[in-house]
Amino acid sequence: MGRADERAEALRNHFDGKVALVTGAASGIGRALAAELIDRGATVVVSDVDQPGVLAVAEALERVTGGTDAVPSRAIAAVLDVTDADDVAELVARTARDHGGIDFVFNNAGIGIGGPVSDLSLAHWQRVLDVNLWGVINGVHAAYPIMIAQGHGHIVNTASLSGLLPSPLLVPYSTTKHAVVGLSVGLRMEAAEHGVKVTAVCPGVIETPLLDKRNPDDLPATDSPDIRAMLTALVGQPYPAASLAADVLDGVARNRALIVTPGHARRAWAAYRVSPQLLVTQGADRMRKALRGAQSRHA
Ligand SMILES: NC(=O)c1ccc[n+]([C@@H]2O[C@H](COP(=O)([O-])OP(=O)(O)OC[C@H]3O[C@@H](n4cnc5c(N)ncnc54)[C@H](O)[C@@H]3O)[C@@H](O)[C@H]2O)c1
Repeated sequence: MGRADERAEALRNHFDGKVALVTGAASGIGRALAAELIDRGATVVVSDVDQPGVLAVAEALERVTGGTDAVPSRAIAAVLDVTDADDVAELVARTARDHGGIDFVFNNAGIGIGGPVSDLSLAHWQRVLDVNLWGVINGVHAAYPIMIAQGHGHIVNTASLSGLLPSPLLVPYSTTKHAVVGLSVGLRMEAAEHGVKVTAVCPGVIETPLLDKRNPDDLPATDSPDIRAMLTALVGQPYPAASLAADVLDGVARNRALIVTPGHARRAWAAYRVSPQLLVTQGADRMRKALRGAQSRHA
């Protein structure tokens, strides 16, 4: 076996026999992370607010692990709304109790809220902050003391490229993702002295149902943009969720502070660091063009 193969195998083995909890795992990135963790030998608590969705995903993953009476399943379904701090604390504590510890918590659940800020109500802001920011805080608050007591553990928070770049028409979403990056990297520096690791994941455009979702129906109606068309025009073609999950687990195994992937995300972030002013000026122009294109396609 060559050096590169040995390194690839060491990255995969990092998760073998470990215990992980993933939030927002009934769909998209969370589902792909759970599948990749199982594939790399971890036991995974697969959680989501969507009960039928999470049961179906856990059942599909359980078939892969071949859980039987003799061999316990490595995919355990849990219904969890990440905005409920008590429920998050209870599930994290139960997971650690049932499995003799908890090695990874992936705070991944998230929603998109789109539209010009002038159209959005405070209810839009509150909803996205509740899920995308408080959901992560609740996960951190529950897992961190347990990991400190264990002397090890890794918290992985799904932020976004929108947590590194300005994102017009996704401003409340981008606000939460910038906060998740700040929370994660600052906490990482504190956590190191307890043996606990923290990583923020900043995906670019990923092929998941999120790209086709509109703002939640129970919030006041707005003219939300076509997120898929806009992000594809601005950033690049959607990247498969399974490829993202493999990149993320490799980055977690390497204990990266930030995982920015795929290449289109790294290039956009690099352009912003080289010239924030240029990206803001050109970005506004390209956003207007992308929106006109998206609107004419949907006329
Ligand atoms: N798809 C992308 O292009 C992209 C890019 C960057 C970051 N992200 C982030 O990745 C994460 C996952 O998004 P996705 O693209 O897989 O979307 P998705 O819509 O496919 O999946 C999100 C999951 O989160 C769950 N969820 C929503 N609210 C919840 C709550 N209160 N409690 C528990 N679960 C809840 C949903 O039921 C769903 O199963 C989000 O944080 C999102 O912001 C996505």
